[in-house]
Amino acid sequence: MDIYSLAKPLLFQLDAEKAHDLTLKTLKLAEKTGALALYSQAPTCQPRQVMGITFPNAVGLAAGLDKNGAVIDGLAALGFGFIEIGTITPRAQPGNPKPRLFRVKEAEGIVNRFGFNNLGVDNLIENVKAAKYRGILGINIGKNFDTPNENAVNDYLICMQKVYAQASYITVNISSPNTKNLRALQEREALSSLLATLKLEQTKLSDKHGSYVPITLKIAPDLEREQVNEIADLLIDHKIDGVIATNTTLSRDAVQGMKHANETGGLSGAPVRDKSTIVIQQLSQRLQGALPIIGVGGILSGADAVEKIAAGASLVQVYSGLIYKGPKLVCDICKTLG
Ligand SMILES: Cc1cc2nc3c(=O)[nH]c(=O)nc-3n(C[C@H](O)[C@H](O)[C@H](O)COP(=O)(O)O)c2cc1C
Repeated sequence: MDIYSLAKPLLFQLDAEKAHDLTLKTLKLAEKTGALALYSQAPTCQPRQVMGITFPNAVGLAAGLDKNGAVIDGLAALGFGFIEIGTITPRAQPGNPKPRLFRVKEAEGIVNRFGFNNLGVDNLIENVKAAKYRGILGINIGKNFDTPNENAVNDYLICMQKVYAQASYITVNISSPNTKNLRALQEREALSSLLATLKLEQTKLSDKHGSYVPITLKIAPDLEREQVNEIADLLIDHKIDGVIATNTTLSRDAVQGMKHANETGGLSGAPVRDKSTIVIQQLSQRLQGALPIIGVGGILSGADAVEKIAAGASLVQVYSGLIYKGPKLVCDICKTLG
């Protein structure tokens, strides 16, 4: 029996955010005391070459679990092929009032309305510098809640400039449902202008630092096919390096009548699985391999990851699956994918 099978019933007795905080604190303590070896895992699987980067395995940690990059070494011990930290914003902000994290246990789902609670980009950079981890690190960037959409590009630029030297790739998050109007940045005009500016900045930073850091765009599952096509075309036009599909959903179709189903926020875990897979399929059909897709949403088993790869993803990420299945999920997926 793995440690998580023992810990899970206890954690599930706690309020969801308290359980989250306790888990991160425990990982941090393990980092400090050298106890990481107790639970460290080293799944064996094929490396993947994606966006010019060699990923030691195809299973990544999705954004949002370690928003500040405070526990990178603790998380690295779980055997991820890559770790994405953030979403980070230029300035620290508290996020929405608590409670803001809920389990929809019956459906193996999670609803969150954190609202980018984070300590700001400068703190994240300090944390990254202090970490021993030398693996693939994605840094996910966003805008402060009080920055109007017309100035959002400045927030992304500030974060991009600050994290560039520390990141293996940078994710531009325009798909969280918990920052008012953020998802409007997915619309054609706004997105085209945002991507053009960020691409130009990437070129400048690449010259300045003498290294090319890929940019990925993270999109929502709640998009019509037309919108997915439009986004795919813009990604190609602006030579964006990759796309992460998907973030959490606003839909509650899969959890009707269940406890916490009606909490405001983004729904993740098993209930978002099919919606994410459909977006990946649509992207894949439109992109025709022009850029890679990182598949995320409702992966709770090796078979779920296979489904994402079959739909067109080159890599996968997990978050909610870790809460329901524990760190063993990383090994299970690696074993299944080979
Ligand atoms: C509690 C929680 C917080 C999240 N915070 C972020 C975030 O800050 N930035 C982001 O891009 N995605 C965030 N996500 C979305 C996940 O990265 C992922 O895209 C989504 O949950 C679907 O994957 P899953 O079903 O494996 O959880 C968050 C998800 C959860 C459950």
